[in-house]
Amino acid sequence: MMTVVANGEQQVGTLAAAEVASALAKQPAAAIGVATGSSPLSLYRSLANLVRAGRLDMSGRTAFALDEYVGLPPEHPESYHSVIARNVTRPLRLVPENVHVPTGTTQDLAAAARAYEQAVRSFPTRVQIIGIGSNGHIGFNEPGSQRSSQTRVVALSDETRAANSRFFPDLATVPTHAVTQGISTILHASTIVLVAHGATKAAAIAAALEGAESEAVPASLLQSHHDVRVFLDRAAAQRLRNHSPHTIPNRPPSNPKAEQR
Ligand code: GLP
Repeated sequence: MMTVVANGEQQVGTLAAAEVASALAKQPAAAIGVATGSSPLSLYRSLANLVRAGRLDMSGRTAFALDEYVGLPPEHPESYHSVIARNVTRPLRLVPENVHVPTGTTQDLAAAARAYEQAVRSFPTRVQIIGIGSNGHIGFNEPGSQRSSQTRVVALSDETRAANSRFFPDLATVPTHAVTQGISTILHASTIVLVAHGATKAAAIAAALEGAESEAVPASLLQSHHDVRVFLDRAAAQRLRNHSPHTIPNRPPSNPKAEQR
């Protein structure tokens, strides 16, 4: 696991975007796995800058979102269909038909989830971007999710609903269930880029990177993956004890890649 500690959210985005772009360049047939939440927004902005500058072409890539709320129509502004279109598809100039988000509104959610799992796995390589919930969840795999879990319907924890209520008028309108890729779906990716910033993530990051691998902390299960690259700001990294991350010096490096290890 490579860990880089950057100076703030913007630098997390710049460095993680360089990593994603270089992983995609090495894996020409790879899909890109995309996440919602605020954590990857600076990464998407940096990727969009690379696309605008002509240094990254996403037009031939297929994208898979991690999750979707159950019961929110795709056109709802807080559905992950809308969030991904706004933050990923348009800024990265992906072809909308090539961007897949699990459906949360069909009659047979279980069958749709199985089909989604197959579609994700049909790409032997995938560069997966993920954030982390303050309780250590990845995607919507809440604590207790099995390592072998695949795309499925899950109940959201009170903590997650409370955290995500900031996007809704009130707690009562936050969906109670979601469809999410499973832990094993996420681990199927060839490269995983995890981004986190802010003190509210510090405990989850310490448990994920330095705690025992346990289904009680879903993000800790990433420890078994062969290619995980973690980008944190200092606040998110503040509770790391034994890890020896590479801390980026205060002045942004002119060649960020050269400073990583
Ligand atoms: C949601 C998403 C997760 C995301 C988490 C953290 O629950 N399903 O994929 O990692 O939020 O969100 P944020 O990055 O806004 O803290």
